[in-house]
Amino acid sequence: MTKSIQAIRGMNDLLPVDIGLWQYIEKSVSDLMTAYGYSEIRLPIVEQTALFARAIGDVTDIVEKEMYTFPDRNGDSLSLRPEGTAGCVRAGIEHGLFHNQQQRLWYTGPMFRHERPQKGRYRQFYQVGVEAYGFEGPDIDCELIQMTARFWRLLGLKGLRLELNSLGTAECRRSYREMLVEYYESRRAMLDEDSLRRLEHNPLRILDSKNPQMVEVNAGAPALMDHLDPESRQHFTRLCDRLTASGIEFTINQRLVRGLDYYSRTVFEWKTDQLGAQSAVCAGGRYDGLVETLGGRSTPAVGFAMGLERIIELVQLQKPDFGLAVPDVFLVVIGEKAGDRGQLLAEKIRDAGYSVLLNCGGGSLKAQMKRADKSNARLALLIGEDELETGMVTIKDLRSNADQLSVTEDRIFDYLQNGI
Ligand code: HAM
Repeated sequence: MTKSIQAIRGMNDLLPVDIGLWQYIEKSVSDLMTAYGYSEIRLPIVEQTALFARAIGDVTDIVEKEMYTFPDRNGDSLSLRPEGTAGCVRAGIEHGLFHNQQQRLWYTGPMFRHERPQKGRYRQFYQVGVEAYGFEGPDIDCELIQMTARFWRLLGLKGLRLELNSLGTAECRRSYREMLVEYYESRRAMLDEDSLRRLEHNPLRILDSKNPQMVEVNAGAPALMDHLDPESRQHFTRLCDRLTASGIEFTINQRLVRGLDYYSRTVFEWKTDQLGAQSAVCAGGRYDGLVETLGGRSTPAVGFAMGLERIIELVQLQKPDFGLAVPDVFLVVIGEKAGDRGQLLAEKIRDAGYSVLLNCGGGSLKAQMKRADKSNARLALLIGEDELETGMVTIKDLRSNADQLSVTEDRIFDYLQNGI
């Protein structure tokens, strides 16, 4: 036998058993966006490699090591998008969306990063991204965070923690960077290999190191928060005040620097302890310089993205039955003739606005009742030889011990409405 071809490592099939939950989450996201006045934008999966290098940063892990990059047939270097912000800014500039306008946008779709796959970390994963353009103040930062907090409430998710930091303006980061390089240069012997490399190009990322060897040296490093420019400090204080007034708890994490270079001022992450090493379910911040970097007119911008696989894993952990398509009725049909009548009856019940799972493919009464139980339907309807003869239907409440009843087809709707 020829060896079968497998999916690419880190790229997952989403099977029918999980689709109910995915669709529920997608619908909830779209309702949430409407509630806050955000419009959907759909963007290409493939872009010029230069877009990501310029936006995310040449010396970030994503651009250096994780992009799926390939030459187009005409020799152009293209990449599968590792995230959505760069493409969203590119599209906004290209279509003049930022000219004297404010925009509230959102998108969803697969992103691609060649990371080492593990639970919660995949090479193809789905993000929902939300971006707001043309707003300077901390009010919009607060709105985005409120939106995420509302989403966790809506899904009933518990144990998510909000971490917040400010990276200041590009200028204040430049002088902080010099300070940091000086600090680490004088402690080179304490640095691991990764940090030595980052010291050259991206010293802020050293602060983000997960290596226990780096804890001590990082603890003594100067904190950016202590060197913020007055405007950034005021922006951050006002954001913190607004969040507090909204009843949203947060902690300030001065080591939160993010793995993409475009951020300025506010950065934030929602974290959980329930997904092992992959703790961030949602992350983002301000990127006031990016529109200009990519060739547009200077435009303040802020946004975030959440990882749908991680959110879905959390929902499945915390609420195992959540979002499964549960029919109102399971229709048991014993024999071919009963099947004929059942197929018509199922449509009649659906016409009245109820969902029906019709047993297809036959099976004994016992096997079909087992399926009915498994479907979590509220009611089972049964058509067998007796029911064919009398023209009645047997109805059984699957969630109580009430006796089953023999009813006419028209009475079914009373029972659906009021129970047995
Ligand atoms: P990010 O932190 O790289 O930010 O990704 C955002 C979220 O995507 C993460 O918090 C995580 O939930 C999910 N994620 C990232 N990588 C993976 C992976 N390999 N497997 C599964 N899930 C993953 C961004 O992408 C920015 N574009 C966010 C943003 C929008 N900032 C401003 N606007």
